[in-house]
Amino acid sequence: MLVTAIEARPLRSLARVRVPLGPGITSVVGPNGVGKTNLVEALYFALTGRSFRTSDRRDLIPFGESLARAEATVRDDDGIERRLMGSVSRTEGRRHLLDGEPAEPATIARARPPVAVFAPDRLSLVKGPPAERRAHLDGFLAARWPARGELRKRFGQALAQRNAMISRIGAGYGSPEGLDVWDAGVADAAAPLIAARREAVEELAPAFAEALAELGLEDGELAYAPRADGDAEELRAGLRERRDADLKLGRSSWGPHLDELKLSFAGRALRKYGSQGQQRAALLALLFAEREALLTARRVTPLLLLDDVMSELDPGRRELLVARLATGGQTLITAADEESLPAAAREAMVRMPRPGVVDDGSDSAGAEAA
Ligand SMILES: Nc1ncnc2c1ncn2[C@@H]1O[C@H](COP(=O)(O)OP(=O)(O)O)[C@@H](O)[C@H]1O
Ligand SMILES: [Mg+2]
Repeated sequence: MLVTAIEARPLRSLARVRVPLGPGITSVVGPNGVGKTNLVEALYFALTGRSFRTSDRRDLIPFGESLARAEATVRDDDGIERRLMGSVSRTEGRRHLLDGEPAEPATIARARPPVAVFAPDRLSLVKGPPAERRAHLDGFLAARWPARGELRKRFGQALAQRNAMISRIGAGYGSPEGLDVWDAGVADAAAPLIAARREAVEELAPAFAEALAELGLEDGELAYAPRADGDAEELRAGLRERRDADLKLGRSSWGPHLDELKLSFAGRALRKYGSQGQQRAALLALLFAEREALLTARRVTPLLLLDDVMSELDPGRRELLVARLATGGQTLITAADEESLPAAAREAMVRMPRPGVVDDGSDSAGAEAA
């Protein structure tokens, strides 16, 4: 499955830009402010219906206008092309369409490759609160084992029901025994989620350490730290044990909603003790490890979006990075200057058209602007 083109029409500063993507590395080059990050965001938005920069999709609407729209063309293994379109309008809200029609999120997810983003300002995954890492890990689970894609949601629902019951009991409606059924529900939903997270991290950990070492940081470690552990039976017993405390607290204090995905080097948490550069390296290493796991599983071709990654790396590491990317999968790289790109990343290179400039093809290897 390949993304063959991305079109922003319009999105932020991009009035209308279309960039074709090749099967391996495609590089997009242009000076700062020309809209490279906006293009990456457009691609992510078309595929996922979300932005990786903002939770308010209306931010994508060009200043003074009322609509943002981005469309990606995806070709599946049988050569069939499908169009995924994300749009957000001030008056009509947001839409995510498959071939021009509304579709279930799960249907859309099956019609696109798994996509991961590296952006210099996206370090919150490494240094932010555990919730972001849990969500990220669960996103990986869903891409790695589609059948396990619902585990996170199922657990969230069970937990919400238990918490609602705790509130009701706190308000004087119902007795603590009423929690038995919700304890069971939480335990049954938690056990497979914990097992899947453990399996995922076991799969990712060696590749993470290796990629991080390649980026210059030795003794990197990716580890799963479950807050609650065990099979459904053990979890149910654990919840029962904490019942009084939970009733006092007013919520569930034990379960995989409190798990942590630990990123560390030389035994120290990158979240607390990593420099900016080390945190960036860790984010890259995590994305690489995931990509490698997906490539090895061979079910889908992951798409990696690397925004402004070269400026973070010295020339030797740039070469290593591109060599790693050349082993498979699809990648979009943005760079402010061509010189920062190793030769292998320059083979399919697109010059970003300047905003407002109608491109006549003379300065472009493929970007089309109007
Ligand atoms: N909603 C918006 N409408 C119009 N322009 C925007 C919007 N949001 C950001 N921009 C503009 O986009 C430009 C930055 O684009 P960006 O993709 O970050 O550039 P690059 O990554 O190439 O440095 C800036 O000029 C900024 O003002
Ligand atoms: Mg940028």
